[in-house]
Amino acid sequence: MADKKYENVEIQRDGNITFIMLNRPDKRNAMSPGLHADMVDALETISVDPETRVVVIGGNGPAWCAGQDLKLYFREAGKDPIKRRKANADSHRWRWELLSRYPKPTIAMVHGFAFGGAFTQLCACDFAIVAEDATLGLSEVNWGIIPGGIVSWNLSDMMLPRHAVYYAATGEPFDGKRAVELGLANFAVPAAELRAKTLELASKLSKLNPNVLRYTKEAVRVVRKMTPEDARDYLAVKQDSLMRLDKEIGDRVGMTEFLDKKSYRPGLGPYKR
Ligand code: COA
Repeated sequence: MADKKYENVEIQRDGNITFIMLNRPDKRNAMSPGLHADMVDALETISVDPETRVVVIGGNGPAWCAGQDLKLYFREAGKDPIKRRKANADSHRWRWELLSRYPKPTIAMVHGFAFGGAFTQLCACDFAIVAEDATLGLSEVNWGIIPGGIVSWNLSDMMLPRHAVYYAATGEPFDGKRAVELGLANFAVPAAELRAKTLELASKLSKLNPNVLRYTKEAVRVVRKMTPEDARDYLAVKQDSLMRLDKEIGDRVGMTEFLDKKSYRPGLGPYKR
């Protein structure tokens, strides 16, 4: 079935990898209320798409995302409390609620510019690959506002406290290599190789057992906020639930291949399903 057409978002496919591209290139993919609504719909739709194994969040044109749209999100929607409430709810829904608990692995593919509110979806994705020459920054301080929504929380969660305060308080921009050093991205690659390197990671993820991958990413995120005792209990129940959900794991096929048949080396790669 053909993908839905959106005004502010474009769906692209490469086999079982689905690219959800912010698509307001003339406005550097600044996030308008319309873009937020489209992203909620696109992410909800792709979350249950059987053809999709991995989702990449990208941006068309010269920027990944220039943050919230200062005109349409702040100034215009701010005049109407109902529009403002809807835009605010949609903005939080896709950038955090949906993405940070997405049932499929997600990769932020960042190029050009990423500012302010864009840090929420950057941190919500499971993985991030950034172009070396990308420019990222917390420019809020230059506008006389604090990193709002949950951006300040995202910084505290992902970066060491010294770095979080430094970059939020100064607004100083940094490049892709620095984003890796700060813990915001996994890899920085030459801009010309960004899509190929993203596809390489996506392809690797697409070959893993999707249930184990999903449960693993959920578990690693959630236990960070728990005591070790609570984490131990949670992880035991989570593993039980995984074994009931997935017959291959429940039947311990991989373990039989390794221990009894000696035909599989789990340290070297995923079990061939
Ligand atoms: N909100 C609304 N519009 C924005 C925007 C934003 N966050 N970022 C860019 N735009 C618009 C510009 O107003 C301009 O619109 P116009 O063509 O109608 O004049 C268009 O996008 C292109 O922007 P421009 O500044 O000419 O592009 P550039 O490539 O030279 O610079 C940026 C790109 C991202 C460096 C620059 O636009 C910028 O600093 N944007 C603000 C980023 C920001 O601080 N975001 C956080 C908000 S809290």
